[in-house]
Amino acid sequence: MSETILKATDLSKTFSNESVQQHVLRNLNLEIYKGDFTVIMGNSGSGKSTLLYALSGMDRPTLGKINYGDEDISGYSNDKLAKFRKNHCGFVFQQNYLNDTMRG
Ligand SMILES: Nc1ncnc2c1ncn2[C@@H]1O[C@H](COP(=O)(O)OP(=O)(O)OP(=O)(O)O)[C@@H](O)[C@H]1O
Ligand SMILES: [Mg+2]
Repeated sequence: MSETILKATDLSKTFSNESVQQHVLRNLNLEIYKGDFTVIMGNSGSGKSTLLYALSGMDRPTLGKINYGDEDISGYSNDKLAKFRKNHCGFVFQQNYLNDTMRG
């Protein structure tokens, strides 16, 4: 059986702007297996980046838990999360403002 490397349990992310609440992720459960190449697909605005930010410790979920192996990273301090990102995550961002500027 495949080994789970990353697991989200009942993950929710809500953005609050003034009086409006936007529930972008709602009770999401997900397991990613070690060695797999996993793709997240969905319409623009469906919450892919929001999910990846939460899974990679870049942002915190509103509710729920994220496990990396045996570790519950959702309980990590900011410093511990920074170490987790440095040691275990790679990021290629959607928008590269520096390149856009340099291209003119
Ligand atoms: N920091 C934020 N504050 C408020 N709303 C946000 C924030 N980040 C994302 N959202 C909202 O959450 C929703 C999901 O956005 P997200 O960027 O995760 O979508 P996406 O699936 O990555 O879209 P795309 O395919 O365009 O990259 C959108 O409605 C967006 O406006
Ligand atoms: Mg995105």
